[in-house]
Amino acid sequence: MTGAARPSGPFRYGDRVQLTGPKGRMHTITLREGGELHTHHGVLKHEQLVGHPDGSVFENSSGHEYLALRPLLRDFVMSMPRGAAIVYPKDAAAIVAQADIFPGAVVVEAGVGSGALSLSLLRAVGSEGRLISFERRAEFAEVAQANVETFFGETPDTWQVVIGDLAEALPAAVEPGSVDRVVLDMLAPWEVMDAVADALTPGGVVICYVATATQLSRVAEYIRGTGAFTDPEANETLVRGWHVEGLAVRPDHRMVAHTAFLISARRLAPGVVPPEVKRRASKKSFSDEDVEIWTPGAVGDREITDKNLRKRIREAQKAAQGARLASGRAAEEDAPGGATAASEAPERDA
Ligand SMILES: C[S@@+](CC[C@H](N)C(=O)[O-])C[C@H]1O[C@@H](n2cnc3c(N)ncnc32)[C@H](O)[C@@H]1O
Repeated sequence: MTGAARPSGPFRYGDRVQLTGPKGRMHTITLREGGELHTHHGVLKHEQLVGHPDGSVFENSSGHEYLALRPLLRDFVMSMPRGAAIVYPKDAAAIVAQADIFPGAVVVEAGVGSGALSLSLLRAVGSEGRLISFERRAEFAEVAQANVETFFGETPDTWQVVIGDLAEALPAAVEPGSVDRVVLDMLAPWEVMDAVADALTPGGVVICYVATATQLSRVAEYIRGTGAFTDPEANETLVRGWHVEGLAVRPDHRMVAHTAFLISARRLAPGVVPPEVKRRASKKSFSDEDVEIWTPGAVGDREITDKNLRKRIREAQKAAQGARLASGRAAEEDAPGGATAASEAPERDA
């Protein structure tokens, strides 16, 4: 279902549809027999849509037009009910790519929260994979289960929700070394990292989504301290929208800048000692020229040769002389009978 179902074809009863009406106002409805969308602009009957292709336009009782489209996963996630804060689509996409979630993978996720990330993970593991989602608060899991069922139209048989703390529930739920990927979105991922290390297969990936720099630092050091993983890699994803209309092509004025950091590492084979990590770039790793190209001005206070220094002095003195001449001329111009702008012009060009 999660891998094969195609949300396409003519609209049917039971479909979720996103309607964009007058002034761009959006309404999400589920088509049902006898259903109607009432707004102060009039009434649109659900039956008007059934049998028509996705992307059609319909008129309501007052002649107002509505564009009807099935919501994409990202549209659904942004409008679905939330128990806990969700992983935004930009980060869900980064998680799927960076953790290399593949069709057929066995993936563990915690906590499930509102189920936003679960939707992307379920799609990525497809019909041959397995997602086991852990959540310690049963009421959040209920929200997630309802959201996943609404989106897929049923509860995928590739999905299992376990109520409990991951650190305690994981060893009972999976065989040691049997999990391909672990995705953690929780306040204290370091508290569950030992259980994660036991569950992951050698070469498997753990990825954590953490909101603050202090969490990032703590989980990084914990991962290093286990000795069971490769050195962790961290990043964040910033997405800036652009306004593109005719010649008015510019970045949007506003953007969602920081959401969270991602940090990931790979499970080493049991008993393997990780090779020592080079913490500082050696002097030979990059030249001053490289630094200057990437961060202009960063090497401004490096040692300068006498020859270069004399050249800079001459340049500075020439600039000062020009400024003195300019201010002298300005004074002459201000003085009665001073030089005219026209008489100065050839010198300015010289
Ligand atoms: C921010 S929410 C997750 C949101 C979810 N990823 C989504 O996209 O909708 C964090 C969740 O982790 C759960 N949680 C925190 N620590 C946990 C643990 N040790 N085991 C299981 N769940 C945990 C919390 O109860 C909360 O629901």
